Amino acid sequence: MNQLFIQKAYINGKWENALDQSTIEVINPASQQKLGTVPKMGEAETAQAVEAAYRAFQSWQYTSVNDRYKLLKAWFDLIQQYKESLAAMLTSEQGKPLKEALAEVDYGAEFVSWFAEEAKRIYGRLMPQYRADAMSFVTKQPVGVVGAITPWNFPIAMITRKCAPALAAGCTLVIKPAESTPFSALALVRLAEQAGFPPGVINVVTGDPQRIGKLLTADSRVSHISFTGSTQTGKTLMQQCVPQLKKLSLELGGNAPLMVFEDADLNKAVQGTMASKFRNTGQTCVCVNRILVHHKIYDQFAELLAEAMAQLRVGSGLDLQNNQGPLINQKSLQKVEGHVKDALDKGAKLWLGGKPHQAGGTFFQPTLLTEVHRDCLIAQEETFGPVAALFRFDSESEAIAMANDTPLGLSAYCYTQDMERVFRVSRALDYGIVGINETMLSSTTATFGGMKQSGIGREGGPYGIETFLEKKYTLIGNLDLNHQIIK
Ligand code: SIN
Repeated sequence: MNQLFIQKAYINGKWENALDQSTIEVINPASQQKLGTVPKMGEAETAQAVEAAYRAFQSWQYTSVNDRYKLLKAWFDLIQQYKESLAAMLTSEQGKPLKEALAEVDYGAEFVSWFAEEAKRIYGRLMPQYRADAMSFVTKQPVGVVGAITPWNFPIAMITRKCAPALAAGCTLVIKPAESTPFSALALVRLAEQAGFPPGVINVVTGDPQRIGKLLTADSRVSHISFTGSTQTGKTLMQQCVPQLKKLSLELGGNAPLMVFEDADLNKAVQGTMASKFRNTGQTCVCVNRILVHHKIYDQFAELLAEAMAQLRVGSGLDLQNNQGPLINQKSLQKVEGHVKDALDKGAKLWLGGKPHQAGGTFFQPTLLTEVHRDCLIAQEETFGPVAALFRFDSESEAIAMANDTPLGLSAYCYTQDMERVFRVSRALDYGIVGINETMLSSTTATFGGMKQSGIGREGGPYGIETFLEKKYTLIGNLDLNHQIIK
């Protein structure tokens, strides 16, 4: 781990402190102990990183796709080689159970290997010849310098899901990792350096997110901002991009419904609920937030879910027995507590949990609430914590209306064995990601992103690279293309 534990930022191929030597502390959320520090950078360092990326772009954009493939592939191999160390670092700074951290490193590495291959498939198009004396074609070119602002809940996978396609397209990068989980990002970039990416192609600045976000959006040398995080911050970044009409892609919050119909396989529905609701201790934007259950099977489903939840073990993610870690910080704990209190005040029933866990710090008890009212905070915004909230419905149309009753539209899930209902419901859901009888949908090949206020654009899969490519139409005119056939 030591070789990968770096407490400096990375600009133009050099590991740097802040010019004024100021730092930010990084805390292990399980122990509340200090893990280390990273530089608190500002205007001058961000400008240096942008300049380095801008200069590097002048040559990196002309590298052959095969050269980019080879570097990405070497990076993938190194991530695999250091998988255990990366996962331990991830758990130490983020808190998720080690098993999930290992899965995230694999998931993150896969984006690098997938987009290494996609580099070879950046096709253009020869256009129909609409004039007798002209040929025209469409080519794809990298957009330029990309500012990648990434979240704390997936400190590895959210970097590779943005950076691998950007690099494959021929873009250069300034990465701003989350201030609570920067070490995984710095370790990944150390491995990219070892893989042989030239100086300036990948840069990392650490520091205050608002300040660096403002600098990246304001700098005309940055062509595109790719952000994952809250809807509120996404809106702020979008406003900051307006003066230059800077392009941006946004992967924002969710408020995922999971619908359990009366004909569902209840054991599978419980398994799916557990897998989604408690992944990363409920801190993913695709975590189930509202569990909508048909009244005929409501009590039975609640009992089965309570049984499954009673098996969860809360504690440090480094202890392999545990499958629920801490929340990222006190603010998150307060939000979760607030959502539970609000639901109980408005008439919900408490089946399990409901309080901070005896392990202390930011650990919270897995909590089951039933008879939750539609006007509760949980119904309106994502809880980002281990709280399963059950709502009741009587008909399919009521369930669809409840599911869509949110300004967000990232992911939704539905458990039913009625095939006609499968097509009806999935068509009617205003969501970018829909799982039928399954809640674990994320993969390299998946098209990840939301409708409505859950974001703009899609990451991953075959469309993930398009975000980082401009289409250029070229026409060559005044050509003498007549071929005289001589008999
Ligand atoms: C997220 O919660 O931001 C990403 C989750 C995933 O990729 O599955």
